[in-house]
Amino acid sequence: MFYEGKAKKLYSTSDPGLVIQYFKDDATAFNAKKRGTIEEKGVMNNRMSELFFNLLERNGVRTHFVRRLNDREMLCRRLDIIPVEIVVRNIVAGSMAKRLGREEGEPLKHPLVEYYYKSDPLDDPLIYPEHAIEFGWATAGEIEKIRTMALKVDEVLSRFLDERGVLLVDFKLEFGRHQGEILLGDEICPDTCRFWDKQTRQKLDKDRFRRDLGGVEEAYHEMLRRVET
Ligand code: TMP
Ligand code: ASP
Repeated sequence: MFYEGKAKKLYSTSDPGLVIQYFKDDATAFNAKKRGTIEEKGVMNNRMSELFFNLLERNGVRTHFVRRLNDREMLCRRLDIIPVEIVVRNIVAGSMAKRLGREEGEPLKHPLVEYYYKSDPLDDPLIYPEHAIEFGWATAGEIEKIRTMALKVDEVLSRFLDERGVLLVDFKLEFGRHQGEILLGDEICPDTCRFWDKQTRQKLDKDRFRRDLGGVEEAYHEMLRRVET
């Protein structure tokens, strides 16, 4: 093991270009000020990420995903992670609703791309892309590429989920460099996305844990059921 994060561990392999991503059941919120466990979360997020990464690859988005190895592990290309988290929003929710005093649920006319500096000690502050360029976290070319890829992810996932009765409210992505190429990394799952049922607007994501709404495991199972069909 060479890295342990809040929800995953990374292991090196005999191939320096490949790593194993292990999915834990640990759940945190508010930069780990709140901690808990979501039963079988690791298994569900591993499987859901596999489905989403395959879907994205089929639609021309290059990702770190190679293949799922077992219930909790996937084989991935090793990334030099760019410390900028990208959030794409289609509907107002979460920190954006709070920061700008907007009602949760207000649809946005166009998808909005936000950039956050990946730093636990600083609580991942919102930044301008210019900060990333100035401080050498990414080049202007990389920022442009990442933005284009993030909007493509939004388009592909929104359409796929819409057909399954789910609204893609917003989501967070991480990117990294691998052999001169920018790849989508991390995971795509109810930890990193907001999913609302299209009819009832019921939350099918980690907000159930963050906000103590109950039915956390059930929401993850329901999301997996929808994307598997
Ligand atoms: P936010 O509204 O709290 O900024 O969250 C935007 C999206 O990013 C939401 O889909 C959840 C996801 N997210 C993460 O993946 N990790 C985090 O640490 C936070 C705060 C949000
Ligand atoms: N990643 C967040 C944390 O730092 C949790 C969240 O998704 O809100 O604990």
